[in-house]
Amino acid sequence: MFGAALATGPLKWARERGLLDVALHQIRDYATDRHRQVDDTPYGGGQGMVMKPDPLVAAIEHAAVVDRPRRILLAPQGASFTQARAEALAREPSLLLVCGRYEGVDARVRAFVDDELSIGDYVLSGGEPAALCLIDAVARLLPEVVGSFDSVESDSFHSGLLDATYYTRPAEYRGWTVPEVLLSGNHAEIARHRRREQLRRTLERRPDLLESAALSSDDRRILRELESGAAPATPGRGRARGRRA
Ligand code: ADE
Repeated sequence: MFGAALATGPLKWARERGLLDVALHQIRDYATDRHRQVDDTPYGGGQGMVMKPDPLVAAIEHAAVVDRPRRILLAPQGASFTQARAEALAREPSLLLVCGRYEGVDARVRAFVDDELSIGDYVLSGGEPAALCLIDAVARLLPEVVGSFDSVESDSFHSGLLDATYYTRPAEYRGWTVPEVLLSGNHAEIARHRRREQLRRTLERRPDLLESAALSSDDRRILRELESGAAPATPGRGRARGRRA
């Protein structure tokens, strides 16, 4: 599962340059019984299997020996993994990601990790795809990786808002045009347009984000305009003005 993802795009690029190092540990290798069993039935009954504490903690302790990483258990019950958390984790020298499987892990394993994180309110069959999401989101923020691929400052969520809308050539596609301001070369106008687009999209799609976003008095004025519907039609919204059928 990890091979292809780590050998593609920015993750491959960062690994080749020594900016990112990923080591994989097979939990089964830390099982001591004949069958190398890593899971067992839950006490108290119920369906599914639970990951046993001993091989998992042995794996954690073995993997954590060298560089004292921040230990993170990936689980749907964890705190939300957000862009702010990705930014904080990108400042850590080393991370240890623990992937649960089956119905869950023995609750005592939590005493051996620093954080428990979830990548979203849905249940995956294991923590591995979640770990890959976390690795991707964190690795692209590492100094030296940033800027080589894309701009982090304009990312959705970096400023607490969704990102603006973007267009590339052609200027007209199947009758849909690009907002004129983007063709104007007027950088101040373009910046204003993009900020407005960020606010409009966030208001429409994720109004919850506005509660904690850093907003200027100008932003608040624009939001009031957008909310009252009094705002002039935003170019680039839906079918753009100037569409020729
Ligand atoms: N393991 C299973 N589901 C998960 C989720 N949503 N986030 C992190 N780890 C998980």
